[in-house]
Amino acid sequence: MAIKFHESTKTFHLFNKEVSYLIHILDNGHLTNLYYGKALRDKEDFTYLYDTYTAVNLPICVPEPGSIKLNYTRQEYPVYGTGDYRTPALTIFQQNGSFVVDFKYASYEIYAGKREIKPLPSTYVESEDEATTLEITLHDEVMDTDLVLTYTIYENYPVITRNARFLHKGSESIVIDRAMSASVEFPDMDFEFTQLSGAWARERYVKNQKLEMGTHSIQSLMGTCSSGEQNPFVALKRPDATETQGEVYGFSFVYSGNFVAQAEVSTHDITRFMMGINPEGFSWKLEAGETFQTPEVVMVYSNEGLNKMSQTYHRLYRTRLVRGQWRDKSRPILLNNWEATYFDFDEEKLLKIAKKASEVGVELFVLDDGWFGARNDDYRGLGDWYVNLEKLPSGIAGLSKKVEELGIKFGLWVELEMVNKDSDLYRAHPDWILHVPGRFDSHQRHQYVLDFSRKEVVDYIYEMIAKILRESSISYIKWDMNRYMTEPYSVIANPCDQGRVMHKYILGVYDLYERLTSEFPEILFESCASGGTRFDPAMLYYAPQTWCSDDTDASERVKIQYGTSYVYPIVSMGSHVSAVPNHQLHRITPIETRAAVAYFGTFGYELDLNLLSDAEIETVKKQIKFMKAHRDLIQIDGDFYRLQSPFEKNEAAWMVVSQDKKEAVVGYYQKLNKVNGSWMRLKLQGLDSDTLYEVSYDISPIASYDAKIAEAYGAQVDDSTIRSYKAYGDELMYAGICIDREVLNKKGGDFSAIIFNVKAE
Ligand code: DGJ
Repeated sequence: MAIKFHESTKTFHLFNKEVSYLIHILDNGHLTNLYYGKALRDKEDFTYLYDTYTAVNLPICVPEPGSIKLNYTRQEYPVYGTGDYRTPALTIFQQNGSFVVDFKYASYEIYAGKREIKPLPSTYVESEDEATTLEITLHDEVMDTDLVLTYTIYENYPVITRNARFLHKGSESIVIDRAMSASVEFPDMDFEFTQLSGAWARERYVKNQKLEMGTHSIQSLMGTCSSGEQNPFVALKRPDATETQGEVYGFSFVYSGNFVAQAEVSTHDITRFMMGINPEGFSWKLEAGETFQTPEVVMVYSNEGLNKMSQTYHRLYRTRLVRGQWRDKSRPILLNNWEATYFDFDEEKLLKIAKKASEVGVELFVLDDGWFGARNDDYRGLGDWYVNLEKLPSGIAGLSKKVEELGIKFGLWVELEMVNKDSDLYRAHPDWILHVPGRFDSHQRHQYVLDFSRKEVVDYIYEMIAKILRESSISYIKWDMNRYMTEPYSVIANPCDQGRVMHKYILGVYDLYERLTSEFPEILFESCASGGTRFDPAMLYYAPQTWCSDDTDASERVKIQYGTSYVYPIVSMGSHVSAVPNHQLHRITPIETRAAVAYFGTFGYELDLNLLSDAEIETVKKQIKFMKAHRDLIQIDGDFYRLQSPFEKNEAAWMVVSQDKKEAVVGYYQKLNKVNGSWMRLKLQGLDSDTLYEVSYDISPIASYDAKIAEAYGAQVDDSTIRSYKAYGDELMYAGICIDREVLNKKGGDFSAIIFNVKAE
């Protein structure tokens, strides 16, 4: 049993081989946190870890003669109004106008396994012995409301998940204005706050800040597309923690809507971290008998640095958050027509691209935006999910069949949550968008947000898209969402229920995903939102992969994929080789470098292969062969290690090592080339010290160098293409591999890359 209740000391101990979490019931019925960190052996009494502090004259929250001062108490779920002056986890407005609540311990339940929190997505178990769950019920007598704090500890991961649930029984209704999913307190402030922040086309850059007294927070108020600006993830790391050593506490929120995550350091150095639905614009009224469930926070503890934290998230999310037939399978190599054609295509053009794709070994052709309604540009058509027969006379049914006749599968783009005003759907239902009557309706990319808090809207969209899926041969869906939300107001909701709209909207999105993935379990879904602006764990529950970014430049992608890898599995990152000059940055990078980055993701192409030279086509064939041979290792089996950060240096590197440590693939990337530069060594990770490996890498010049240029750079075309040598794992990890500048020159100099294969003898 990984959770014990020590009756005599009123202490819960959640523990496994790697992590311990201790909760103690105080004399006033509140819960205090005694410890969260590296595993401790279990024993009856840990109460010495409760530090009382009586020196200062502050309100005492316990019947005399006690001395509990909540402002100095590390609490499990702090509230407002009873002597704690820090940010509360909870605010409830009552009919007498008061916000003061007092939840006291009532009972607990410990059970094997983990329960779902439907309709919200969450991590799961496949058998009861994988995890143990503790539910602590607290009760507020005046309101007659239960608060259930749920903690699940996984048996084989340093993972504790948390959520909170309210059950209101009292006859007078209450309004929840703030309800965090988790609040955790540490006795010191010796942390850096690591966040993944950015914007469209530069999503999830790694940012660090030392904690100071006061509050540091990140949030989203964008309604749904939160994660490009501020991903719902924070790591509190010790300042001396690195990728490979030191303490790190990860917090990841399984939610796609408005959120807040904050660390507050008190003037006595206690750090309080909390995460939950953003209280701004949120309020949820509960009548007697009604419940409210908060989303899940997944907490990962690592005392082996950031890499170990990320590897834990990767394995947990890949196997116990992602569901369905694609969970354990490597992904098809696709070609997406977006950057190849944008809106300018017809059936003939698409089939020409698909044919070439099939010839080089691509397995899936994806038709992106522009196939429906009057969608010839981004001013019109969204909402009209029926095919544009002028462009595609055989319909999606006919086109998908023709693509399959080429020997590859067919996939389709949709943007189901949106509508253009120039559409049949909007003309028929102008009140179906989120808007406030009498005010201006803000738009982005000329599109408006359908009110997914309304069931009839979700039902209608479901029927429209399900019809296409039923009639055609579709193996993949890219579900896009291209704007932030405004005017969060539903015309059918009561004035006092408007605070529910944003959360209900997200529940509507989850509902539509649930219905579509249930009816079409064989379809591989990829979520997307203007690139990677909705890359969050909740999306992975429905769609096992997410388009990482609209920035497809290889060098920029190293940063984006590096940051994304803090939480999200490699197999979940949509990554394509696109055309040059790059459409976002106008930068030219070798096709070899573009693939070397895209290998560490789902891998695909987003260009018209008919426009490539013969040499480039041969290179593409080699790349596809390489990916087919290595995708099980990179996407499913392997552990990912970040070796060198692109945020710190000109050079970046990462690698994937198989579980049995017999094979690894290493990606090395540089931005600008250097002349007469110094030597470079790259120390590998995760190998077996005693195993003899062969290290090999392709040293042939890039395809875009014709023979003359190659020669001028000293890159003889008749060079033997593969260089290799043998070394033991300890050599590769402690001495490192040499990075050959001559090879970087042959690989294009600026924005070049080398892929190393490491294989046990
Ligand atoms: C944004 C996506 O990120 C792109 O890949 C593409 O699908 C466009 N939307 C289409 O409008």
